[in-house]
Amino acid sequence: MKKRVLVTGGGGYIGSTLSRHLLLNGFDVRVLDNLSMGGDGVMCFLGYPSYQFFKGDIRDRHAVDEAMSDIDHVVHLAAIVGEPAARKFHEDAKTINNDGTEIVFESALRHNIERFVFFSTCSSYGVQDTNIMATETTELNPVSLYAETKIKMENYIKDNISEKMSYIIMRPSTVHGPSPRMRFDLIVNHLAKDAVMTNKLDVFGGSLWRPLMWVGEAGRAVEKVLSSKKELIHNQIFNLGNTENNVRKKEIAEIIKDKFINDLEINYADEDPDLRSYRVDFSKIEKTLGFKLEKSLEDAIGELINLVKNKLILNPNDRSYGNH
Ligand SMILES: NC(=O)c1ccc[n+]([C@@H]2O[C@H](COP(=O)([O-])OP(=O)(O)OC[C@H]3O[C@@H](n4cnc5c(N)ncnc54)[C@H](O)[C@@H]3O)[C@@H](O)[C@H]2O)c1
Repeated sequence: MKKRVLVTGGGGYIGSTLSRHLLLNGFDVRVLDNLSMGGDGVMCFLGYPSYQFFKGDIRDRHAVDEAMSDIDHVVHLAAIVGEPAARKFHEDAKTINNDGTEIVFESALRHNIERFVFFSTCSSYGVQDTNIMATETTELNPVSLYAETKIKMENYIKDNISEKMSYIIMRPSTVHGPSPRMRFDLIVNHLAKDAVMTNKLDVFGGSLWRPLMWVGEAGRAVEKVLSSKKELIHNQIFNLGNTENNVRKKEIAEIIKDKFINDLEINYADEDPDLRSYRVDFSKIEKTLGFKLEKSLEDAIGELINLVKNKLILNPNDRSYGNH
């Protein structure tokens, strides 16, 4: 029997690629999304028998209960995503990321869901001593409302889990690469786009550290979590990424220049309003589930550069490709 997975926020940047991965790997996928970021991430799957789309808001209990019926596992992604968006839409950030998550989680409990996968974020590590790698047990140090809403929900889920359901909290690296619902407000996507379109990069806070990951890895990781033995994943938190993919922001610009656009002009400015800097240890997911990232940062940058050069997206600067 195919397992049926509800993906909230499945029309989004990660959700649409994750849905595609699950569909290609033998799952039935139902997406619940209010399409606040548009419908591109849903359009490409319509008509496939293993895919269902329910339009709805996760703050609407009735819509959530309806989407939850006959489902085995939940992957909960729907959120106001990123600090700039959370700051701008701060009421929604609280009612969606917190109240909405509680509604989805409570409905999952009532519907006897087996595994509840919650996408938190590595941003929760905030500002860390970068001589030390942050593990899943490192004290979190959020510097944004966005990260605060995620941490609050990690704790809520841990406190309210039932014996029958397993929670799996993922803390993904910052993501990059092409997706049916494209975002150019993420660091690697944004630098690759600007490099192609202007031949010039302004890099702020170049020495700050970030763990990075290709967008397709999220689906691979969730497939692992949903198909691994229960004792490996039951009520676990996993950082999601690879330890060697912790890079300084300026290294991204340097790869673009060294490997792809040799005459690129790069200007560095020390100050960055975004103070986050953290290096993350990803050995737990590798040791427990045998999960390692497959795509190198360089390969992913090459694909992004081709995407922009070949005009797969006519106007990458359109506001719809950002979250705020
Ligand atoms: N993109 C990253 O680098 C990254 C890194 C770490 C964690 N995450 C987490 O992964 C998840 C997905 O992020 P993303 O980059 O795909 O963002 P995204 O903004 O592209 O996707 C979010 C999706 O949620 C939907 N949504 C928002 N509010 C909703 C509501 N009230 N009801 C129903 N649907 C709603 C949106 O329409 C959108 O399709 C988020 O939970 C985010 O916190 C993302």
